Amino acid sequence: MSTTARTVGVGLISVGWMGQLHSRAYRDVPIVYPELGITPKLVIAADTAPSRVEFAQNVLGFAEGTTDYREVLAHPDVEVVSICAPNFLHAEIGIAAAKAGKHFWIEKPVGRSYSETAAIEDAATEAGVITSIGYNYRHAPAVEHARTLIADGRLGRITNVRASFFSGYANEPNGALSWRFDRELAGSGVLADLFSHASDLCQYVVGPIAEINALTSTVYTERPKLEMGSGTHFAVIENGDMGPVENEDYAAALVRFGSEGPGSGAVGTIEASRVIVGPECGYQIEVYGTEGSVKWDFERMNELKVCLGRANAEQGYTTVNASPKHGDYSRFQPGPGNALGFDDLKTIEAKKFLLAVSGGPQENSNVHDAVSAAAIVTAAEVSAASGQWQKLDEIAGTTASRTA
Ligand SMILES: NC(=O)c1ccc[n+]([C@@H]2O[C@H](COP(=O)([O-])OP(=O)(O)OC[C@H]3O[C@@H](n4cnc5c(N)ncnc54)[C@H](O)[C@@H]3O)[C@@H](O)[C@H]2O)c1
Repeated sequence: MSTTARTVGVGLISVGWMGQLHSRAYRDVPIVYPELGITPKLVIAADTAPSRVEFAQNVLGFAEGTTDYREVLAHPDVEVVSICAPNFLHAEIGIAAAKAGKHFWIEKPVGRSYSETAAIEDAATEAGVITSIGYNYRHAPAVEHARTLIADGRLGRITNVRASFFSGYANEPNGALSWRFDRELAGSGVLADLFSHASDLCQYVVGPIAEINALTSTVYTERPKLEMGSGTHFAVIENGDMGPVENEDYAAALVRFGSEGPGSGAVGTIEASRVIVGPECGYQIEVYGTEGSVKWDFERMNELKVCLGRANAEQGYTTVNASPKHGDYSRFQPGPGNALGFDDLKTIEAKKFLLAVSGGPQENSNVHDAVSAAAIVTAAEVSAASGQWQKLDEIAGTTASRTA
C-alpha cells in the first residue's frame, strides 16, 4: 500500500529499554518501508530521570525533552505517543493520551489489572484513537509462517499447544529489585511480564483461549533495591539494601481454547519463569495437529521446525530458515539465512502502527488484544488462588480484576 507522503510527530514517554527501542524503530521505518511515504519526526521525550531526557535529545534525536509526561501529551506537534513507562503508569498515561486525542503505541502489559486495561480500552474507543501494543514476537517471520501453515490447515486439526517463556533475567538471588517485583508498580510478576507475551502468541497463531487452570510460585522472596530510572532489571547488586518481592517468579497453566479459530477444541500448556537457569530468553511455542506440527524458539528466532504429514514423521523435523517468503523478512534481507534480530521486530511493529494511523490496513495488535491478555493474566491469578478452572468470560467484575 502506498499512502500520501506525510510527517508524523512522535512523542515518547519513558526512555528506558523500550523507549530507546521504539525511538530507533521509528527512525528505521522510512528506510525499511520507503514506499509508505511516512516520515516520523521525533518531537519530544519525557522521563523523570534527567539523564535519560538528555540521552533522548543528544543521542536519540528528540528535538525537545521534559521530566513531565503531560508536556508530551499537550504538545501540538505530537500526533502519536509511545508509552514505555513502568506498568503502574500505563492506565494514567494511556487514558490521558486518549483524552488528548493522541494515537498511542503502548508496551505490554497494558495496565496492572483487567479493570485498568479495560479502562484504557474504553478511553481509546471513546476518543477514536488508534492503539498498538508491544507484542513484538508476533512479527517474527518464522512465527508468521507457522501461523499461515496453521490457518491453511496444513497441520490438520489442532490438538494441543505448548508455550513457555523462560527468561533468566532474575535468576541471581542478588538480581535487582526493580519496579517489576513491586505489586503496586508492576501488578503481577512473571504473569504480566512474560506469560502475557506467551498467551498473546498462542492466541495470535491458534485462536482465543477460553479457560485456564494455573499455579504460581515465588522462588526469591527478597532482593536488593534498585533506584527507578537507573540500571535495568538484569542488574545484579552486591551487599544492597534488601526489599520484598511482592509477585510471582514462575507461573504454569493448563488452557482450553474456545470454539473460534483454527485451535477450536484444542488444549495446551503455558509456562513462564523469570528465574530460570539455562534458558536466557527461551521462548517457545509448539503447535501439534492431527497431520503435523511446528516448533519455534526465540533463541533461534529465524528458524521454524516443521513436520507435515504422518508419512514424514519418521524423518523428523525439517528446519525452515526464515526467508523472503515469510512475513516482512524481505524488507530487511534479500535472501534466506541472514538472521533478523529483536530490534527488527520493533521496526515491523512501528510500521504497522504508523500505517494504521495513516489510514492504512490495521495489521497492528490493539487494545482489545491487550484486554484479552489481561483477562488471561487475571484468570490465572484467580485460578492459582482458588485451585479451580477459571472461564475467561467470567473475569470482568471479579474482585481480582480490580486489584493492581
Ligand atoms: N515488548 C517487550 O518485549 C518488552 C520488553 C521489555 C519491557 N517491556 C515493557 O515496557 C515497559 C517499560 O519497560 P523497560 O524495560 O523499558 O523499563 P525501564 O526500567 O528500562 O525504563 C522505565 C523508564 O521509565 C521512567 N519513568 C519512571 N517514572 C516515570 C514517569 N512518571 N514519567 C516518565 N518516565 C518515567 C524511568 O526513569 C525509566 O527510564 C514495561 O511496561 C515493560 O513491561 C516490553
